[in-house]
Order: sequence, then C-alpha cells, then structure tokens
Amino acid sequence: MPVVLSIGGSSINPDGKPDINFLKGISKVLKESKDEFGIVTGGGSVARAYANAAKELGASEYDADAVAIVATKLNAHILISALGDIAHPNVPMTFERARMHLGKHKVVVMGGTIPGITTDSDSALLAEAIGAKRLVNVSNVDAVYDSDPRKNPNAKKFEKLTYEQLIDLAVKSDKRTAGTHFVFDMLACKLVARSKIETHFVSGKNMKDVANAINGKKHSGTVVKS
Ligand code: UTP
Repeated sequence: MPVVLSIGGSSINPDGKPDINFLKGISKVLKESKDEFGIVTGGGSVARAYANAAKELGASEYDADAVAIVATKLNAHILISALGDIAHPNVPMTFERARMHLGKHKVVVMGGTIPGITTDSDSALLAEAIGAKRLVNVSNVDAVYDSDPRKNPNAKKFEKLTYEQLIDLAVKSDKRTAGTHFVFDMLACKLVARSKIETHFVSGKNMKDVANAINGKKHSGTVVKS
C-alpha cells in the first residue's frame, strides 16, 4: 500500500523560490524508502501572489484559484526534477490518472485539481483513491496545536489525536480572525476521518521526522488515528 505525502508550498518554495536543500532532502528520503508514494504539492507564496494579482485584475474567485493551481503544479514539476527516474515525468490532472501511473512508477506527483479546494483535500482524496496506508502532511508547521503557536507561546502541542478531536480543532480554527488558518483544512479532516486514514503532521525542516512518519514510527509531530 502506498503512502501519500501532502507537501506544503511553505516547504518547497518558502520565499517564492525553490528550496534546493529541502528538495534534495525529501528526494533522498523517498529514494531510500521501499514504499510507493502519491504526492500532492502546495503552491505557497507564489500561488497566493498570483491568485491575489488575478483578483486585483478582476478575476473571479474561481479563476483566481485556477491561477493558483498552476503554481501548485510548478512545485510538482520541480519535485519531479529532483526525483529523477523514480517519478512519473508528468503531473496528472486527476486522481484516476495518478492511480494508473503508480503501478509503473515508484512516485507520482500531482498539484491542485479543481478550484474551491486546497492541496490538503487533494491529498486526502488521493489517499482514498490509491488506498494509501497513511498520509503525511509536511509543512512549516511541526505539529497540531490547540491554538496558533506563532501567536500563542503557550499553545499546547498534541502528540496524538482522534479524528473527532482533529475535526473539533479545525472547527474551532474556523472562528479565528482572518489571516490565521489551521494546519489541515476542514474538508481534508473530514475525508481522512471518513476513511480512517492514519495522518501524520511533521515539519519539512526535520527530515528524520518525515522519514519516521512515512514508516509509521514515532516522531516529534502529531499522529491522528482512531
Ligand atoms: P494550497 O493552499 O493548498 O497550497 O494551494 P499550500 O501552499 O500548501 O497552502 P498554504 O497556504 O501554505 O497552507 C494554493 C492555492 O491553490 C488553489 C487555492 O487557491 C489554494 O489556496 N487550489 C489548490 C485550488 O483551487 N484547488 C486545488 O485543488 C488546490
């Protein structure tokens, strides 16, 4: 059974340009692993800049999302460049196509799919579509907290959560002020809950944690399971 990785744009292109060390580090982990991988890459600051520019130019929310999706695919392609032969050379547009590519390649990398959702939800849908044994969310947030750790120095970090607790935290974060957002969006939380997909949250700055999460071993982030 494959493993799904949701890799935030915050890890791939933190300052608007690709982080070569991160790309080399994650590629090494994937090459050394015996597993197969379905990966979804986020768009990060480039996606946000282009979506905002599109809106300033008069684009609808739908069309601004379509612009942002292209940025997620740009990150998918740069990861494919780092992975070389072990990855399918194309970025599939659908989960069905990703599933087809998997039997032939060790890694398939996709970006966003349709406007109105995020790559968190894409990764949960991909995990359902390919029957993944677990999903690992790699981003600049090292774990799930009870409040935003950047704003609250006393935020409590969770080592383990149930699906219900994860959904409760996502609901709570919906009520926060604009500009703050939870580490995993609500639809993604509901999808992993309905299919009981073991979900790990780790920082892209700690490749040991990423490798441990991929293998279902202990790490310093958060694991969600029943
Ligand atoms: P994400 O917001 O999922 O990427 O996609 P990210 O960089 O990992 O997210 P954060 O902000 O750092 O947590 C970037 C944008 O692309 C569009 C949305 O506008 C989303 O905000 N998108 C992505 C879609 O419209 N559909 C998708 O399937 C994926």
